[in-house]
Amino acid sequence: MRVSVFGLGHVGLLSAACLTRAGHTVIGTDPEPQRAALAGIGRFLLLDPGLKRLITEAASSGRFRTTLDPRSAVLESDATLICVATPSNANGSLNLRDLDAVCIQIGTALAVKKDYHLVVVHSAVLPGTVEGRLTLLIEQHSDRQAGHHFGVCMNPVLSGDWSEGQDLDNPNPIVIGELDTRSGDSAQQLYKTPNTTVVRTSIQTAEMLNYVSKAFHAVRVTFANEIGDLCAAHGIDGHNVMEHSCLDQRSNLSPAYLRPGFAFDGPCYPKDLRALVYRAKEQDVDCPLLSAALLSNQKQVSHAIELVERTHRSRIGILGFDFKAGSTDIRENPIVRLAETLVGKGYEVRIFHENVGETRQDDTTSFFLDSGLPHIAKLLSPSLEEVLGESEVVVIANGENAARNVSDLLLGDRILIDLAGVSREVPTSLPKHL
Ligand SMILES: NC(=O)c1ccc[n+]([C@@H]2O[C@H](COP(=O)([O-])OP(=O)(O)OC[C@H]3O[C@@H](n4cnc5c(N)ncnc54)[C@H](O)[C@@H]3O)[C@@H](O)[C@H]2O)c1
Repeated sequence: MRVSVFGLGHVGLLSAACLTRAGHTVIGTDPEPQRAALAGIGRFLLLDPGLKRLITEAASSGRFRTTLDPRSAVLESDATLICVATPSNANGSLNLRDLDAVCIQIGTALAVKKDYHLVVVHSAVLPGTVEGRLTLLIEQHSDRQAGHHFGVCMNPVLSGDWSEGQDLDNPNPIVIGELDTRSGDSAQQLYKTPNTTVVRTSIQTAEMLNYVSKAFHAVRVTFANEIGDLCAAHGIDGHNVMEHSCLDQRSNLSPAYLRPGFAFDGPCYPKDLRALVYRAKEQDVDCPLLSAALLSNQKQVSHAIELVERTHRSRIGILGFDFKAGSTDIRENPIVRLAETLVGKGYEVRIFHENVGETRQDDTTSFFLDSGLPHIAKLLSPSLEEVLGESEVVVIANGENAARNVSDLLLGDRILIDLAGVSREVPTSLPKHL
């Protein structure tokens, strides 16, 4: 393909070099004449010798050149990759000035272009920006229609993919958020190299993925640093602790704990986190992330209550009673807190619990219920059909098997609030009528 790259900073230059290496013909453009000129001859101040070699190779390949004229860059290419900066404003919001300017330039050029053109946004933007702002700007200035005259994709820069240059021979999967299939098919052509896996998704998902990647990095580094500080206060080797912790792939590094769902709880997590945060205070060690985890967890229960309140219905069925599927220990159970609050607010609550009644003699759940929570015990039912039949709103609170096909069993205008994400309903929006 013939590709124009707008913005020859760190990301743009590396992208231009990778696209050239993949066999495409690339025109880079940047309003800074010196930047464009230096990129064109492969001379650029880059500390990494591998990247420097890649850019020099691109410049001497005969398939990479630069121009100061954005119009000709668009007209002489089939696709445009936007790599301009999106810095922070003083209040933390994104400054989209350069991005807007580029979209106006692309739109103005497309106004006189007959052929289909693909626009790929590589700059970091928040969900909704590409479709709700940038595409509209291009449409307004080109008098052309997105999805018809031109295609639009979002290709976020993720850690370890080719535009981060970490391992160009074995990059992580490339994510393409596509406006439509034609846009995605065209964008896929850009990354057609032997070792590259391409994942196709919606534009908003791709926009979000950039921030998830950055936020997750930030949280992990902060977590490790807070643990390091706590260890140091105890004279323990924090590196050693984290190395041991990372050996546990089944729990500590498992993707199972990286799915949105309901609050964490159970017999150990809150208790032990509280103890650690208390110890940090005693040692005068500041651990804002660890302290915030407890607050954030409480918010999950408040949020679930808000979702139920917004339905304006009174009969509520809760599916999944244990804090995680298959567990029988209900100490510090967030579902108990949810049910108690709803009962206190006057809702009629029924809770589906598979084993209730059958193994009452030796079931741990029943033991805890009978000894401390008789008001909850009387809400339980062993019949899924009964709970579904009596409820106007059904809340899935954990990933129990019985809850998995519930959306198919719901009749009439019952509302499903899927906190566990097993039916892939989105619990944060207003609940959907089924
Ligand atoms: N630098 C990184 O490591 C990194 C990593 C991941 C994501 N990103 C994202 O990638 C994007 C680009 O970042 P960067 O670090 O390469 O930025 P940068 O500041 O290094 O480069 C941006 C370039 O765009 C040029 N530019 C400005 N207006 C232009 C226009 N109208 N037409 C053409 N070029 C124009 C600037 O002159 C500059 O050379 C940002 O959204 C950033 O958040 C960067």
